[in-house]
Order: sequence, then C-alpha cells, then structure tokens
Amino acid sequence: MKRLTASLAAAATALAFAGAAHAADLKKGEELVNKGGCIACHGAGLDKPIAPNYPKLAGQYQSYLFHALQQYQAKHQTPLYGRNNAIMSGMVAQYNTQDLQDIAAYIASLKGDLYIRDEMH
Ligand code: HEC
Repeated sequence: MKRLTASLAAAATALAFAGAAHAADLKKGEELVNKGGCIACHGAGLDKPIAPNYPKLAGQYQSYLFHALQQYQAKHQTPLYGRNNAIMSGMVAQYNTQDLQDIAAYIASLKGDLYIRDEMH
C-alpha cells in the first residue's frame, strides 16, 4: 500500500509537470522576451517604461497579457479588428500562439507593481 501511494504520488507529480509545460513555458517566455528587446520600451524588469504612455507589464495577469498580445496580432493580420498600435502589432507579428502564451506566463510571473497575487503563490 505504501508503495502504491508513493507511485501514485510520483505519477501525479509527473502529470502536474507535463500539464504545466504544455500550458506555458516560463523559460521559453523569458528567452523570447530577452530576444524581443521588450525592455527597450517597457523598461527594466518590464516594470519601468521609458515613457508615461508606455504600459508597465510585470506582474499583470497572464490571461490579460495573452489576450492583449493576441489582439495586436489580430490587428496586424486583419485591419478591421484587434488592438490598434503600430509598434506592438509589429512586435508580435513574429510569434505563434504558444510563444504568446509563454511570453504572457513569464511576464505575469515577474514581481512588478502590478503583481498583487502573493496569496496565490
Ligand atoms: C518600441 C517600443 C516597444 C517595444 C520594443 C515593445 N513594446 Fe509593448 N508596448 C509599447 C507601447 C507603446 C504599448 C501601448 C500600446 C497601446 O496603446 O495599445 C505597448 C503595449 C504592450 C502590451 C499591452 C499592455 C497592456 O497593459 O495592455 C503588452 C502585453 C506588451 N506591450 C508586450 C510587449 C512585449 C512582450 C514586447 C517584446 C516582445 C514588447 N511589448 C516590446 C511599446 C513597445
């Protein structure tokens, strides 16, 4: 019985990891953000934008970030809808949906001014 419990626990752990890796890959998100040069405008830690009308990103909700990124992409592909911003539409054109998930997950994990979910971690 003890052995069964242990192997069930191991299986559950493996499943949990597999699930997380599929949903979003923080490491990949970090690489994409670093390569993408996002800090040039959104600032150090994506929390210190270089202009007052440039948004802080660090710690924003993952689903919000993902949706925002997708909307810039939609605008780029079909001019009739999506978020209208020439800079960001150009920035996200190169990424696929999984990339946007990874980027959003990584940015959401950064503890910036917008990060208000300590109780959940
Ligand atoms: C050249 C400057 C510049 C660069 C580089 C840049 N951004 Fe942006 N970003 C902006 C501006 C300006 C906005 C606000 C656009 C608007 O009004 O919709 C913005 C908005 C966003 C938003 C929406 C935020 C919100 O609260 O709605 C996200 C997410 C975002 N950027 C992510 C990124 C990522 C990820 C990268 C790197 C791949 C990046 N940005 C690179 C200038 C930049």
